[in-house]
Amino acid sequence: MAARLEIEGGVPLRGRVAVSAAKNAALPALAAALLTSEPVRLANVPALADVATMTRLLETLGASVAGEGAGMAVRVERVRSDVAPYELVSTMRASVLVLGPLVARHGSARVALPGGCAIGVRPIDQHLKGLAKLGAEIVIENGYVIARASRLKGARITTDLVTVTGTENLMMAAALAEGTTLIENAAREPEVADLAALLAAMGARIEGAGTARLEIEGVPELAGATHRIVPDRIEAGTLLVAGAITRGDVTVTDLVPDHVSAVLAKLEECGVGLEVGPTWVRVRGPERPRAADVTTSPYPGFPTDMQAQLMTLQGLADGQSRVTETIFENRFMHVAELARMGARIETDGAIAVIRGVPGYQGAPVMASDLRASAALVLAGLAAAGRTSVARVYHLDRGYERLEAKLAALGARIERRA
Ligand code: EPU
Repeated sequence: MAARLEIEGGVPLRGRVAVSAAKNAALPALAAALLTSEPVRLANVPALADVATMTRLLETLGASVAGEGAGMAVRVERVRSDVAPYELVSTMRASVLVLGPLVARHGSARVALPGGCAIGVRPIDQHLKGLAKLGAEIVIENGYVIARASRLKGARITTDLVTVTGTENLMMAAALAEGTTLIENAAREPEVADLAALLAAMGARIEGAGTARLEIEGVPELAGATHRIVPDRIEAGTLLVAGAITRGDVTVTDLVPDHVSAVLAKLEECGVGLEVGPTWVRVRGPERPRAADVTTSPYPGFPTDMQAQLMTLQGLADGQSRVTETIFENRFMHVAELARMGARIETDGAIAVIRGVPGYQGAPVMASDLRASAALVLAGLAAAGRTSVARVYHLDRGYERLEAKLAALGARIERRA
């Protein structure tokens, strides 16, 4: 049987906990190593299943990878294969991040189309449209995207919607293109800005990182670099909710408070006590949260990756809250599981209406995706009695030692095989 987490709920969490580096910044940073023949050294790579998958993919493309965690060096002296196989892409959609770098450096890429996933259809049409604008010839054959270009050429790209990995793919491709590329409607997520910082350290010329308008002047070659990955704002938000939902007193450290400002604003609205320092946030849980409505949107709005976790808090509020999910069409998989713990939530398309209950009861529940599993763990921490969260491999994709971090705060949580 796959591993599960057993949680004995009802313990107020107390203490300090440090955030790891961001999964969604580590993955593009690893892919960026494809852009140069020199080593790219990453100072703080989180130990996550998705990082292991990306590393494996890079190795199949010709990378040699040394070290792990605190100090990983990835070197792609020569691209040996241009194929991102379906076995890897289907376990991790972020594999598509090798597409832009492969075409730009190697002149060709064959990347399996990711297909849908638990949270939505998630097409990559914007990645492909942008690459075509940069001069790549693109065909779809037998479930694979095949992209070719002798040398990409700078272009003006306006994406139809805000896409995080799409912006990252195009930024990496444009870094080695001939001439200047303008990306409008670019994603402003801190992970995109973090990738821009790494690329700049490698010699790329990028202006406007962190804004919706990126200007990239292509260079013929990029060099190696050393980079420290930005803290994980979603892990930070998840730990803050853990403190709040258990009526605890938790200081989350090693984060960038600006990156969680939308989450902090919502927690405050829910009546959670907050104290914000330069690199930490202290959270004190209320006796009972207040209801608050939320709509997910691209950064700096409220992140879809925190929607499920916030909902566990709203589920205990004194009153009715409404969640509007605007990024993914099927991101309410946690709702049915939370209902098994006593939550009263109704969904209608992109909207969930949550009528707060005074408490959750422990129950066996099943994780469906990464953030849904985090939400179930949070509900389990607050619930009376025992919760068993099955399929924790979803959690392991994106949270580094979550149960160890929670246990250090006093949670009664154990992993069982
Ligand atoms: N979309 C398109 N066409 C495209 C690209 C995106 O229609 O070519 C749509 C998507 O279907 C979605 C919306 O645009 O409805 C936004 O998708 P986006 O491309 O921004 O998502 P992503 O880049 O695939 C990243 C994170 C996700 C996070 C989203 C939104 C990484 C590796 N993944 O995905 O993280 O939810 O941005 O912020 O950065 C997670 O960590 O749990 C996770 C799912």
